[in-house]
Amino acid sequence: MRLSVIGCGYLGAVHAASMAELGHEVVGVDVDAAKIAALSAGRAPFFEPELDGILARAIESGRLTFSTDVAAVRGASVHFIAVGTPQRRGENAADVSYVDAAIESLIPHLSAGDLVVGKSTVPVGTAQRLATRLDDAGTGALLAWNPEFLREGFAVEDTIHPDRLVYGLPDDAADAATAKARLDEVYAAALAADTPLVVGDHATAELVKVAANAFLATKISFINAMADIAEVTGADVTTLADAIGFDQRIGRRFLNAGIGFGGGCLPKDIRAFSARAEELGRGESLRFLLEVDAINMRRRERMVEMVVEALGGNVYKKKVAVLGLAFKPDSDDVRDSPALDVAVRLNGLGAHVIATDPAAIPNSLRLQPQLGFATDTNDALHGADVVVLVTEWKEYRELDPVAAGALVREKVIIDGRNILDPTSWRDAGWNYRGMGRR
Ligand code: UDX
Repeated sequence: MRLSVIGCGYLGAVHAASMAELGHEVVGVDVDAAKIAALSAGRAPFFEPELDGILARAIESGRLTFSTDVAAVRGASVHFIAVGTPQRRGENAADVSYVDAAIESLIPHLSAGDLVVGKSTVPVGTAQRLATRLDDAGTGALLAWNPEFLREGFAVEDTIHPDRLVYGLPDDAADAATAKARLDEVYAAALAADTPLVVGDHATAELVKVAANAFLATKISFINAMADIAEVTGADVTTLADAIGFDQRIGRRFLNAGIGFGGGCLPKDIRAFSARAEELGRGESLRFLLEVDAINMRRRERMVEMVVEALGGNVYKKKVAVLGLAFKPDSDDVRDSPALDVAVRLNGLGAHVIATDPAAIPNSLRLQPQLGFATDTNDALHGADVVVLVTEWKEYRELDPVAAGALVREKVIIDGRNILDPTSWRDAGWNYRGMGRR
């Protein structure tokens, strides 16, 4: 099939390359010329395992092209909208202006019978509004909503082998059948592999996405709240998570306590969802999400307090080695990263922060140039008064406590992700502290 993807960020670039990998002919469009130049040269403009490989293959095959000119979508019959919906400045609500702009730019190039497919995370009700706009403009195009659940770091895998597909279809039965048939063709490979398909209306599809992220965020804040209680009672939150996780209704995944969640999705999505509920007159139904957010933000404060305590009450001019800057491993994304935030807060207290990360230093340097950076973990550890582990990269998980102990000035480590084995670190002479761990 011939497809277009409007917006080539984390979501769109991966979607475009993955659809080409599956055999479709795809054009990716973005207003950012630098991004389009990098993608056209087969370079992902961000760190995402596997993306460079499939980009290069798809470009070489001639099935994938990129353009800054939206007219390049002509000839495609399915158009994906994958632009960002960031948090509005000074508000909790989502800014959907990029989605609106994408639709407006697309309208002059649509042909009757085309299908426009929204993938961006939007406030419920947006799809219906956009469908009306397509009708009013006389495009003869249909609109479907098809949320994306990809995780950064696994984005290609999640796109090619999704754990479910969700279609939000038009209300009219004939239009719904046409849109579904077209989407089935796009996702033929996943459907042939028995990927579960959930079909509903526009509003349900929009809600599925924010409900999933709200649930995940709640799960993380729940375990972090348990970590707070564990800390004052001498209990161990990791053991607690293991024990409740055996209950299949609860499940162990997303029950890792630590400095909390960040990234380009969970924080802004729960805020936008609660703001939308307020607009819909049901604010009280989602008010708990503001508490989920507050619990999450307090984790960063708690981490800083623990560092201050470990240094005897004063971090001023103390050397703090910060391991990790990305909001999660296998990513260079520092949007709303708790790791970067902790580094900035410590720096603000006068600590001499030396932060390191396998992928996220360039992005961190751009946003927070006042921090000290070291590309090599050993350089960051060298002479440190305290080590702060804030992103669970494999190489930090596998750090050797004896070798690390030979580099630092004081063997004090605070494990903000609860990933190290306390016994082996203590046996190597370290003062180890996790979050809500004995
Ligand atoms: C998330 C959703 O998982 C994905 O389905 C959606 O499409 C986009 O948002 P992503 O932002 O890539 O994906 O990150 P995710 O893996 O969900 O992690 C989010 C944050 O939660 C990270 O900062 C991570 O470190 C943190 N986290 C995760 C925890 O603190 N504890 C956990 O147990 C799991």
